[in-house]
Amino acid sequence: MKKVLLFAVVMMFSGQALAEDFFSNLFRFKGVKPMTDKLYKDSCGECHFAYQAGLLPKRSWEKMMLADQLSDHFGEVADLEEEDRIAIRDMLVADAADTSIYKRSMKIDRSIPENATPLRITETPYIKKKHKEMTDKYVKFNPKVKSLINCNTCHREIEKGIFDDDTVLIPNFGYWSEIE
Ligand code: HEC
Ligand code: HEC
Repeated sequence: MKKVLLFAVVMMFSGQALAEDFFSNLFRFKGVKPMTDKLYKDSCGECHFAYQAGLLPKRSWEKMMLADQLSDHFGEVADLEEEDRIAIRDMLVADAADTSIYKRSMKIDRSIPENATPLRITETPYIKKKHKEMTDKYVKFNPKVKSLINCNTCHREIEKGIFDDDTVLIPNFGYWSEIE
C-alpha cells in the first residue's frame, strides 16, 4: 500500500515531465539515426547525399564497402584509403537498419527479403512503396530533383533523420501536404 501511495505522489509531480519525455523520445526514434561524422560526410557525401546507415541493412553495407565494390560503385570510382574504408564500413554496420531502434529503419529492414542484399535504398520494397506517387513529373523531369536518389532535394529535415510528410517540399511544386 505504501508503495502504491509513493508511486502516486511521484507520478503527480513528475507525470508531466515523464509524458513530455516519452513523446519527445517517440518522436526522436521515428525517423532514422542522423549521421554527423565528418569523415563519413566528406567521403560519402561528395557525389550524392551522405545516406544514413539506418537506410540499409548490415549485409548491404558490408558488401558495398568491399574494396573491389568501391572501385566500381554504380559505375563510379569511390576508392578510399584502407583505414578510412574500414572506419566507414564499421560506422555503417554499427547503425545499420537491422540493428536500429528507429522506426523507419525497422520498416525498411522488415520489407527486405532475407535472401536479398540490396545496394540501392531506392530499390528496397518499403522505400519503393512510399514513393509510388513520385512520378516522372516530380522526379525525372524535375531539373532540381532528377532522380529519387537525391533524397535531400525533397526531404528538408533529412540531416536530422526526419522524413515526416510535413517536411517534404518538392522543388518547383511545393509542400507535399499541400499538393496531395
Ligand atoms: C565518385 C562519386 C561517388 C562517391 C564518392 C560515392 N558514391 Fe554512392 N553513388 C554514386 C553514384 C553515381 C550512384 C548511382 C547514382 C544513380 O543511380 O543515379 C551512387 C549510389 C549510391 C547508393 C544507392 C542509392 C540508391 O539508389 O538508393 C548508395 C547507398 C551509395 N551510393 C552509398 C555510398 C557510400 C556509403 C559512399 C561512401 C563510401 C558513396 N556512396 C560514395 C557515386 C558516388
Ligand atoms: C521527389 C521528392 C522525393 C525524393 C527525391 C525522395 N522522397 Fe521520400 N518521400 C517523398 C514523399 C512525397 C513522401 C510521402 C510522404 C507521405 O505522404 O507519406 C516520401 C516518403 C518517404 C518516407 C516515409 C516517411 C513516412 O513518415 O511515412 C521515407 C522513409 C522516405 N521518403 C525516404 C526517402 C529516401 C531515403 C530518399 C532517397 C533515397 C527519398 N525519400 C527520396 C518525396 C521524396
